[in-house]
Amino acid sequence: MKKLTLLSIALVAGIGAAILIIGCVTSKTVTAKSGMQLWGENCIRCHNAPSSGDYSNAQWETIGMHMKLRANLTDVETNKIVEFLKSSN
Ligand code: HEC
Repeated sequence: MKKLTLLSIALVAGIGAAILIIGCVTSKTVTAKSGMQLWGENCIRCHNAPSSGDYSNAQWETIGMHMKLRANLTDVETNKIVEFLKSSN
């Protein structure tokens, strides 16, 4: 009887851990989007997505702040997009 209780506790804990791990994996894939991906998904919503060579690195900083407000992006998303646009200059 005692063995059975222990076994069921272990089983429940195992399922719990599995759910926890799956949950983390899912949320990771959402936040793990690259700058390029975020740029492609967001910057074409209102106008043609500008490409890296269109503006200088300093200009991308300002545009990032401006479009962060327009596109309702988080700091993390904006930084990723700006880094992507700056890096391929
Ligand atoms: C919600 C709509 C919307 C989204 C999404 C959006 N933009 Fe814009 N964007 C505008 C509008 C409107 C303008 C015209 C200038 C203004 O009035 O803000 C503009 C202008 C620009 C300009 C011209 C320079 C400037 O700052 O005015 C650039 C470059 C630009 N956007 C880049 C981007 C990038 C990069 C993204 C993705 C992070 C983006 N936009 C996402 C609406 C948007």
